[in-house]
Amino acid sequence: MSIYNLADVLNPAARNGYAVAAFNIVNFQTAQAIVQSAEAVHSPLILQTSVSTVKAIGIEPLIHFLRGLAESAAVPVAIHLDHCPDIDLALRCAELGWSSVMVDLSKRPYEENLRETARVVSYCHGLGVSVEGELGAILGVEDHIVVSERDASLADPVLSIEYCRETKIDAFAPAIGTAHGLYKGVPKVEFDLLRTIAASVACPTVVHGGTGLSDCAFRRCIKNGAAKINISTAVKIAWCQGMLQYLQDHSEENNPLKSDAAAMKAVAETAIAHMKLFGSENKA
Ligand code: 13P
Repeated sequence: MSIYNLADVLNPAARNGYAVAAFNIVNFQTAQAIVQSAEAVHSPLILQTSVSTVKAIGIEPLIHFLRGLAESAAVPVAIHLDHCPDIDLALRCAELGWSSVMVDLSKRPYEENLRETARVVSYCHGLGVSVEGELGAILGVEDHIVVSERDASLADPVLSIEYCRETKIDAFAPAIGTAHGLYKGVPKVEFDLLRTIAASVACPTVVHGGTGLSDCAFRRCIKNGAAKINISTAVKIAWCQGMLQYLQDHSEENNPLKSDAAAMKAVAETAIAHMKLFGSENKA
């Protein structure tokens, strides 16, 4: 199956009331486990890479194996760059094979965020690459982007309409009270704000900070318009804990293929649970 861009996988989700999970992968094995999971439940999929993963693996080796996995997958797979504050890097990823990029200019003044995001969209659309943009500031740590409680802010619904219309982004991530990383208490998700924004912008909406949301919160996000939900920390926990458990249980085992297989199984279980919960099963 060929590689899909973000608009291709999200527009049907937004129309039909389900969400596509976007999983942050950290290596070949996490990507492969997640692609196999999507195939097992016949779900469309977004493989997401953070900037630190791009830098750790290297832009060309990373896109080479991601495109290989996506092209041979039996389900639609989009390859997405997550939270990139560096416009030059985002454009390079778009040129080298990512099918969508998120430019995170949310720390810049609103006018500049709008103008620069529009410039990225215009270039990326010429390549057939989709763009995700963000307004407000999502609490927590994602990659090297740190937003403290003091600096976190919700998206403004009026500016959201203008931002989406003027930039022509393909997916919109409004800050709605979710947070990156593990929640310290019960998150206060602004479902009404999500519904208002999702109903008034033309493109599908995205919820960040999926790890730790309850099943009920996920369902309410989707009911109120979320078409893409990001899951990163849960993938990393599954990988590390799956590996740790295996090595504790088999302390004499020195075959990395076996410990990798155990970690991949844990990642696959996490991925499948999210895809089923988001309603994307059998939507490939
Ligand atoms: P979590 O790490 O909380 O799952 O957030 C993922 C995310 O939103 C990536 O952009």
